[in-house]
Amino acid sequence: MSYAAADVFARQVAQKPDSVFGLATGSTPIGLYDELAKRYSEGKLDFSKAKSFNLDEYYPIKRTHEQSYYYFMNHYLFDKVNFAETHIPDGETDNPEQECVDYDAKIKAAGGVDLQLLGIGFNGHVGFNEPSSTYMMRTNLTDLTNSTLEANSRFFSEGEIQPTTALTIGFGAIFSAKKILLLISGAGKAEIAKKLFDDKIYTDIPASLLLLHPDVTVMMDKAAAEG
Ligand code: F6R
Repeated sequence: MSYAAADVFARQVAQKPDSVFGLATGSTPIGLYDELAKRYSEGKLDFSKAKSFNLDEYYPIKRTHEQSYYYFMNHYLFDKVNFAETHIPDGETDNPEQECVDYDAKIKAAGGVDLQLLGIGFNGHVGFNEPSSTYMMRTNLTDLTNSTLEANSRFFSEGEIQPTTALTIGFGAIFSAKKILLLISGAGKAEIAKKLFDDKIYTDIPASLLLLHPDVTVMMDKAAAEG
């Protein structure tokens, strides 16, 4: 899955060197980022004209915190490849509302996202757009659901304070991406993955809204596909 996803990234940047990539964190894309770092070190990839925008960041969180998405992205990808510009919502800001407005403006000024990478939560969230009766268009500060807090608690050590809110881009930016690549990995995701192929939009599964986008590729590993 990671190798095939890296091929999609490689094609994108070869066809359009100044591509804008939408990036995700979590365990799912780590294999892809490792593969991109490997290909870059072998001289097979060049991101020197490309930009990236991450989907989300915990709030509040220090950039130096090992669980911040800032730290994650630098560790797994940005320290190893050569993006011209990288952007992540600022988990340290004291004005999150302004940060959200500014983040959307930066994506727009970059010309929107060419290729949006997504993972999916056990509850069907994309970015941190959690199941809800309403979905946000713009970048916003959102409460994380208990299911997401539980799923991500594995990354925080015992006694450590886990942020319960996050900054996340909304469906406006996700839907304005020209292409979407959704990665689904692991047996734990088999159930939610299956729902995406029902040809139905479930109001309580944010990822099912992606069926409305004209260019979505879903790649999953064997364990996720076995559902
Ligand atoms: C991460 C993100 C989340 C994750 C999802 C799956 O930036 O936006 O939607 O993609 O929670 O996480 P993993 O891959 O850890 O199962």
